[in-house]
Formats: sequence, C-alpha cells, structure tokens
Amino acid sequence: MKKVLLSLASALLILTSSSFADSMQKDTDKMMNINSMEKMTKVKKSFGTKEDIIYAKYLWEKLETSTLNSTPATLYLGGPPHGKVREVLEGKIDNQRVIVKRNYGGKDISINKVKNNRAKYLKAVTVMIQRKNYDPKNNDWFWIKYKADGTLHMAANKTKLVGKVKGCISCHSSASGNDLVFIHNKDANAEITLVNEMMK
Ligand code: HEC
Repeated sequence: MKKVLLSLASALLILTSSSFADSMQKDTDKMMNINSMEKMTKVKKSFGTKEDIIYAKYLWEKLETSTLNSTPATLYLGGPPHGKVREVLEGKIDNQRVIVKRNYGGKDISINKVKNNRAKYLKAVTVMIQRKNYDPKNNDWFWIKYKADGTLHMAANKTKLVGKVKGCISCHSSASGNDLVFIHNKDANAEITLVNEMMK
C-alpha cells in the first residue's frame, strides 16, 4: 500500500512539475515575444523604408520627364557636405514644391570643367520635395540623395538615404527661414534656376 501511495505521489509530482514546466515555458515564450516586439519597434526605420524607396523611383522618373534633371543652372562653389561644385533648381512635381541640387566632385574639379562635362563629375542629386502632411514637424519635406544614375546613396549601415533622413533634417533645421531651406535666406550664395515646365 505504501508503495502504491508513493508511486502515486511521485506520479503526481511528475505531472505537476511538468505542467509547471509548461507554464514556465509559456511565460518565457510570452517574454520572448514581448522582447522581439520591442526590438521590432526599436529598429523600425524612420527613413529608407520600402515606401520611401518606391516613391524615390517614381520621383526620379518625374525629375527626368520634367527636365529638372537636365536643365543647366548657375554653377557655384560651396563647402561640405554637398559637392564642391553645385547647382540648384526649383520646380513643381504633382503640384508640390521640389528643390533639386546637383552636386559635382572629382579630382581638380572646377566650374569650367563641370560646365564642359556635367555627366563626368556628377556625384549626387540631393532633392527635397514638399509632400502634403508627410512630416508636419519638419515642413513636410521628403529628402533623397540619389546617385548620378538615379539609384540611392546609403548610410554607413546600408540604410538608403530617402524619406525623413535624420542627417538632412538636423542640418537643414538651422536654416534661418524656419522652413529648412537655405537657399532663399539672406546668406544664399547662388541663384537658383526655376524650371517652368511644371508637372501636374
Ligand atoms: C551639414 C549640413 C547639411 C547636411 C547634412 C545636408 N545639407 Fe543640404 N544644404 C546645406 C547647406 C548649407 C545648403 C545651402 C548652401 C548651398 O546651396 O550650397 C544646402 C542646400 C541643399 C539643397 C538646396 C535647397 C537649400 O536648402 O538651399 C538641397 C535640395 C539639399 N541641401 C538637400 C539635402 C539632402 C537631401 C540632404 C541629406 C541627404 C542634405 N541636404 C544634407 C547643408 C546640409
């Protein structure tokens, strides 16, 4: 009888401990889920998202057809971070204000060399486009840094420079007009070319 009781007791023990282990496992699972959810929200990109990249592709086409990508403007010299020789154009795409800055660089670069062969020296096309309700905190600007061929430049961690790009926003926040645009301020160091062929 004692033996029976004992084995009953140990069977109970095994049962309870295994269900205890089960619930422990469930708790751990829950915690892991919460952790991974937290991780997911933490790494949620503020720029370089799939939507940002899709829009950048669409916009590049529009820049090509609107001639904003090809109209020559006044070339001027400037300091970092933008290319040494640059030109700025402004126009409208889908009825939204867009500012395009072409940045040229390379060995022994000069304004005349760029004038004679823009394609050879073009390193980046940095663009700001004002999209309604896109980012009200930052004047609704959408930022892009294209390479000469229309693909996107990347940050050191391989995130594409498109969307609410933190680096662009933080530096441009110091523009005195409070609109994140430098060129129209009193310190503007070049004329901008307005491209009249507007896209609807
Ligand atoms: C460290 C500061 C700094 C950073 C970072 C920066 N810019 Fe600029 N940007 C400037 C300054 C200064 C000007 C105006 C001077 C000039 O025209 O060269 C300018 C001009 C521009 C212009 C022409 C309109 C204007 O504001 O005058 C565009 C477009 C532009 N930047 C896009 C970008 C994009 C896109 C990024 C991010 C990929 C970026 N910029 C990052 C400083 C910065």
